[in-house]
Amino acid sequence: MLKSLLPLLLLSLAMPLVSGQGDDETPLTRAMGVLQGSTRALGKIVEDPDQRDEALRLLKLMEEAALVSAAQEAPPFDDMEGQELALFQVGFRRSCLSLADAILEAEAACIQGDGEALKAAYAQILRRKKAGHNEYK
Ligand code: HEM
Repeated sequence: MLKSLLPLLLLSLAMPLVSGQGDDETPLTRAMGVLQGSTRALGKIVEDPDQRDEALRLLKLMEEAALVSAAQEAPPFDDMEGQELALFQVGFRRSCLSLADAILEAEAACIQGDGEALKAAYAQILRRKKAGHNEYK
């Protein structure tokens, strides 16, 4: 598990050095960027049975990004503290892990060559994104 996360973690740390991007880039915003690019790319090929290897490649990137996100803290809303803040962060991590679960569901569908299940899992990924952003962004 740690081995599979290492490339993304190292990339997260190296990106500001090579890209010259600003200080407001965090491991969380970078992981979200990976999710964004891969989710869009997946949307274009999700119905194409000839692109299942590419779909699986994108899903693995998304899985890593969701797990990296789950190891971060969400920027809290104004004046949150104590128990409220602690529960906010627990909820954020659970939401990231539920996204990772939907991504894994899509990976399983890809491996099984089940196009209908893949489409359903993709729709679930989009719903989990929306729910995560409604609650924590
Ligand atoms: C496929 C799913 C998702 C996609 C494509 C996505 C995409 C994005 C994008 C493009 C941003 C803006 C990044 C930036 O400011 O540069 C963002 C930010 C954010 N997302 Fe997501 N997201 C997804 C899932 C989630 C989930 C499940 C959660 C909650 C658990 C979440 C929580 C957040 C938060 C808290 C921010 C703000 C981060 C910050 O400003 O520091 N996202 N997301």
